[in-house]
Amino acid sequence: MTDRQPMVVELFAGIGGFRLATESLHLRTIWANDIDPKACRVYRANFGDGQLVEGDIAGLIGDVPAHDLLTAGFPCQPFSSAGKKLGIRDPRGTLFHVIVEILQRVRPQYFLLENVRRLLTMESGSHFATILKSLVETGYMVEWRLVSAADLGLPQNRQRVLLAGTRMSGRADIEPPVLKLLTPGELAASSDSTISLVAAIPNWVPIESHACKFPSWGIAAHGRFFCADLSHFDDAVPLSPLASFLETDPSPEFDFTEATKERIKSSTRVDKLVNGVHVLYNQGGGARMGYTVFGIDGIAPALTATASRHYERYKINGTYRRLTNVEYARLQGFPDNHCAGVAVYDQYELYGNAVPPPIARWGMERVLSKGIPVTAFSSAAANLLPLTYA
Ligand SMILES: C[S@@+](CC[C@H](N)C(=O)[O-])C[C@H]1O[C@@H](n2cnc3c(N)ncnc32)[C@H](O)[C@@H]1O
Repeated sequence: MTDRQPMVVELFAGIGGFRLATESLHLRTIWANDIDPKACRVYRANFGDGQLVEGDIAGLIGDVPAHDLLTAGFPCQPFSSAGKKLGIRDPRGTLFHVIVEILQRVRPQYFLLENVRRLLTMESGSHFATILKSLVETGYMVEWRLVSAADLGLPQNRQRVLLAGTRMSGRADIEPPVLKLLTPGELAASSDSTISLVAAIPNWVPIESHACKFPSWGIAAHGRFFCADLSHFDDAVPLSPLASFLETDPSPEFDFTEATKERIKSSTRVDKLVNGVHVLYNQGGGARMGYTVFGIDGIAPALTATASRHYERYKINGTYRRLTNVEYARLQGFPDNHCAGVAVYDQYELYGNAVPPPIARWGMERVLSKGIPVTAFSSAAANLLPLTYA
């Protein structure tokens, strides 16, 4: 790697959650893509139209230029059962496989992928096993980690899995993990941790013989993986209360209709924190989120991409309402007016689908701590742009 600014490609760019993180780290996005016209409109309004190519990525694979870091929050799409007889699902023809094809063709040094938590558990982990197997077979060492938006200063119970990849050219390329901080004991032994990792690989589990859901952290290389459930997030910041992210005088257009308010009258008071979320009322036996009214003494449940009032019921200072588009932006870690160019109704979906920039940035900093420390990144790192808004 030469002494220059690392170049980033952003697939499934949406409204640019990765792009905001990239900018804050002074990295250079040279190519981005999304198929959705509204997302593209927002992306261009914020970042200009120099890098974004609008269209189906399936037809653009050959256009992706050489780069150092590939980022993608790829759509979670079921794999076909064509490969079932191999004991693992077949990713061919999926949007995930587009990523694999680009890695094969362009071979960037690093990648950082993001997806929903249930990717680790869907169909007893078989989807995630397919993903790991494909990425490892492409010649990358892969590390994954579940990261919560709440741990990074956003008042939202949103957990996302990050997959970080490093290109390998041989067995000696194995590197110590970066998404998991080393314990003091591991740190003391870190001078030979690469050697011990390589030595340990034969004892790891072959990816094809995975038998159950995958836990919150793991590492995979040479067809095998090692994993652990990590209870502690090393970089956690104190929990931010939802109340401090709310608008003070939102328009009444966000208030519930009279019919919805009538229905709420038959709800049962719960008034408990569940996973940090303040559940205020629940409707007769309704465990479904749609029947819950949330309070503001905790954090918000994961924002959804739906614009339905059904899933967003809050009692805020005596008013029953849904969150506003600006509150959605804040809870996802975006500037208030990031999606100003599209209708309020459409903003919910765009924000709800996005990667919170603080999660993207945490992953990028960790990946880049591996090796990119080309001088350009190291010197820029002393002058990071803050990811703080509002
Ligand atoms: C989970 S969202 C990623 C959002 C993005 N990380 C952000 O911060 O806004 C997935 C994105 O993939 C895009 N997408 C879906 N199918 C696509 C395709 N065939 N080609 C290009 N983009 C596609 C969607 O429009 C959507 O914006």
